Amino acid sequence: MIGIFIVFEGVDGSGKTTQLSLLNKYLCANHIATYATREPGGTPLGEKIRELLLNPDFIDMQSRTEALLYAAARAQLVAQEIRPRLQQGTVVLCDRYIDSSLAYQGYGRGMDIDFLIKINQLGTGGLNPQLVILLDLPPEEGLIRSRKVGPADRLENEALDFHRRVRAGYLELARKNPDRYLVLDARESIQTLHQEICRVVGGMVGA
Ligand SMILES: Nc1ncnc2c1ncn2[C@@H]1O[C@H](COP(=O)(O)OP(=O)(O)O)[C@@H](O)[C@H]1O
Ligand SMILES: [Mg+2]
Repeated sequence: MIGIFIVFEGVDGSGKTTQLSLLNKYLCANHIATYATREPGGTPLGEKIRELLLNPDFIDMQSRTEALLYAAARAQLVAQEIRPRLQQGTVVLCDRYIDSSLAYQGYGRGMDIDFLIKINQLGTGGLNPQLVILLDLPPEEGLIRSRKVGPADRLENEALDFHRRVRAGYLELARKNPDRYLVLDARESIQTLHQEICRVVGGMVGA
């Protein structure tokens, strides 16, 4: 693998999509080949799985079903898009990845973390990002921000306690993987966060 795989994580409304898009523009302006994608989705098959996962009608979706659907969409995205791009030397930017499953299904819903790690390792063939940018934000602030963008989806409808466990889970994952994680205070301004991300990623890609 010669490309660099960078993932954005954080609760809803923490600024992942905003920062991914700004970083993508910055890298493109510096003539670095990038590929930006999002999870779940990023492939035609994965986008269909995304519709199932976010549909508020499926209130009875079982935890294992949910975890396997995420892993299935991820398997498709890695095989069809991410691995080939990394092999070409592209910088791949992904909005959410395995740690979303660990934070939401594991820490949020209380599912066995080892089960989640196993199905995701099987799904992705063990592909891990070089950098995870965690936009850390109290979930109540994130919910206020994302409500402005559109109606609530199935996961946004979860109780605030659930989102608090997700946030704490992310911070725990960051503590366990300090070499891979960049933790930022997502209450900082969009521009301040962008500058810090450019500084770190610029150092990795030689921009
Ligand atoms: N640092 C920030 N400060 C204030 N508002 C922000 C910040 N970053 C993003 N936003 C706003 O919050 C909303 C959600 O941002 P978004 O990037 O869609 O978050 P996510 O993709 O993590 O759900 C958008 O309206 C965006 O403009
Ligand atoms: Mg987003």
